[in-house]
Amino acid sequence: MSTSAKAELSAGGLPLEPIERASVDELRALQLQRLRAQLHHAYDRVPHTRKKFEAAGVRPEDLVQLEDLRNFPLTTKADLRDNYPFGLFAVPRAELVRIHASSGTTGKPTVVGYTARDIDTWAHLVARSIRASGARSGDMVHVSYGYGLFTGGLGAHYGAEKLGLTVVPFGGGQTERQVQLMRDFEPAIIMVTPSYMLAIADEFERQGVNPATSSLRIGIFGAEPWTNEMRAEIERRMGIDAVDIYGLSEVMGPGVANECLETKDGPTIWEDHFYPEVINPETGEVLPDGEFGELVFTSLTKEALPIIRYRTRDLTRLLPGSARTMRRMQKITGRSDDMMIIRGVNVFPSQIEELILQISALAPHYVCELGKEGPLDTLTVRVEPKPGQGHDGTITTHAAASLQRSIKTFIGVTAHIVIEPVGSIERSLGKAKRVIDKRPR
Ligand code: DLL
Repeated sequence: MSTSAKAELSAGGLPLEPIERASVDELRALQLQRLRAQLHHAYDRVPHTRKKFEAAGVRPEDLVQLEDLRNFPLTTKADLRDNYPFGLFAVPRAELVRIHASSGTTGKPTVVGYTARDIDTWAHLVARSIRASGARSGDMVHVSYGYGLFTGGLGAHYGAEKLGLTVVPFGGGQTERQVQLMRDFEPAIIMVTPSYMLAIADEFERQGVNPATSSLRIGIFGAEPWTNEMRAEIERRMGIDAVDIYGLSEVMGPGVANECLETKDGPTIWEDHFYPEVINPETGEVLPDGEFGELVFTSLTKEALPIIRYRTRDLTRLLPGSARTMRRMQKITGRSDDMMIIRGVNVFPSQIEELILQISALAPHYVCELGKEGPLDTLTVRVEPKPGQGHDGTITTHAAASLQRSIKTFIGVTAHIVIEPVGSIERSLGKAKRVIDKRPR
């Protein structure tokens, strides 16, 4: 096949859309046109947004070039909560064909809604994401993201169907049965959180099957932060390619960005539908590409819930396109909500994960527990050994000591390490909870 013909195909040999091959100039022109329309749509149809624009002294027509977006007000989760349940919708309730919601830890859930066209756009972008992950025609996709109000299950499902693949809509839980069905049906692709993938891998082993010999070829993992070290571990154990899918319900759901199999260098943002910015989380100032900060998204084509400059709380940086012209985001290292501050040092669970995975006797089943010793914060890392290592006290004592040493050296805090029995740390069926805060309020 000629190189130019190859450039029109994804890693799995399926045709790319013209916009995935467009020049940066073409892409920017499309974004500008769509952004103008989206600002008008939100301003004309959503009283809360109009009020915020007026308070900031901006009108949709003030956007002359893409960079002018920085003059428009930011949106936060509080805007959604304050307008619970349907106050930010830009279409009459009867035009919604679907509602999703996230429970959140405090207060009211965040409610999002979709018109028929929104659902179609979403399915289209998840299909594009699965294609970028290396899907081939005829593949079967096992979906273990939860179905229901969470966007993971149905989002993945509609995308896989749109791409013409065979979907097994399992959802989360019933791990023993999931594995049995995977052994019987032989799917090529699994879509699941990386932490639940580990529980599935353990279950394969419990059933006497080496997971690396399963039919799976690709895993599409997201909904929670996971490190490149975790990617290497999952790829080795499962004998698959592990790619990163990113998204959030307020902006759409899964499929806002997805890694391309051929590069695995951070999710490519589907910039024809979402305009990304990175801001300094303290000052709100827009940072140049390449600098770390908080990711902010503006939707470009949404009907039901146009979202202008939504603060994701996710920390990352924007990178130039590689497998596609669209920009990438660096794999998320953490959310500002997950950041632990231990004696003045900022620590993310992902940093601990990276160090755990460097110690061969340890398994990436872990939680970080925050406590108090007098006025001072303490960090306890509870982690399991790999099966088979747990019976040997010398190995685990040694592993605990080396983890403590590397946390001190690379992160700069003293952590207390507790090696827990194999299987004792709660397994997630969806998003893993990595931080347990036991500090008195
Ligand atoms: O988690 C949507 C999703 C489902 C994405 C399935 C990927 C796969 P929410 O429940 O609204 O939506 O949570 C969104 O999850 O702001 C991030 O903090 C985190 N997150 C999602 N994907 C990734 C990822 C779904 N690939 C929040 N890496 C986001 C790191 C992720 N964090």
